[in-house]
Amino acid sequence: MKIFLDTANLEFIKKWVPTGLIDGITTNPTHLSKEGKDPVKQVKDICKVMKPYGDVSIEVTEQSPDAVYKQAHEISKLSDNVVVKIPCAKEYYDVIRRLVEDGIKINATLVFNLEQSLLMAKLGVYYISPFIGRLNDIGEDGLHVVEEIKIMLSMYQYGSKLLAASVRTVGTVHSVMLFGVDITTMPTNVFEKMMEHPLTEKGMEKFSTDWKKLGIKKFP
Ligand code: E4P
Repeated sequence: MKIFLDTANLEFIKKWVPTGLIDGITTNPTHLSKEGKDPVKQVKDICKVMKPYGDVSIEVTEQSPDAVYKQAHEISKLSDNVVVKIPCAKEYYDVIRRLVEDGIKINATLVFNLEQSLLMAKLGVYYISPFIGRLNDIGEDGLHVVEEIKIMLSMYQYGSKLLAASVRTVGTVHSVMLFGVDITTMPTNVFEKMMEHPLTEKGMEKFSTDWKKLGIKKFP
């Protein structure tokens, strides 16, 4: 399973990308607004850092279909590792179709059910991003929706990749990993929590204490 970071924070990206653990980045208008910097420079810098490692999803901010089409082309020109994020709203279906025909990779965002996913797969998007946390927020079962989308994509052998988004806990990462999703994009805090287990720290302390009892200065 590929790991994407769901952030526009360049410092965090720079810190973890050299480990080779990060396969891509998903940004959105909220992330860019939170950084409070020039968003064009910010996404260009992120694309540059990510170039040897993976792609960067950048979301359209225009509203009308014509403006979204034009903006998607402009965004795709920022770097050759850009994937353009477009909400899977029906007014953009034709725009998405045209952009796919133009050879632009699309990340269909704000996907909330199996039916929308089928339509996005038929339009040939590169990534389908169901939002787990936001479904849970309204009392629905976000994980179940992702599980269904995984089955549908495998059953009909569509080329779109399943990107689990709106992930807020390590438990969610655990579940989607076992569903066989292609990618999980996760916020920085979830990524850091994935590395932790109390028994790892406890074990290190015990080994260190026991070792010191030997009183050896150099080993080996
Ligand atoms: C990523 O593509 C999405 O924009 C992001 O995961 C949304 O997460 P949220 O629902 O926690 O804001």
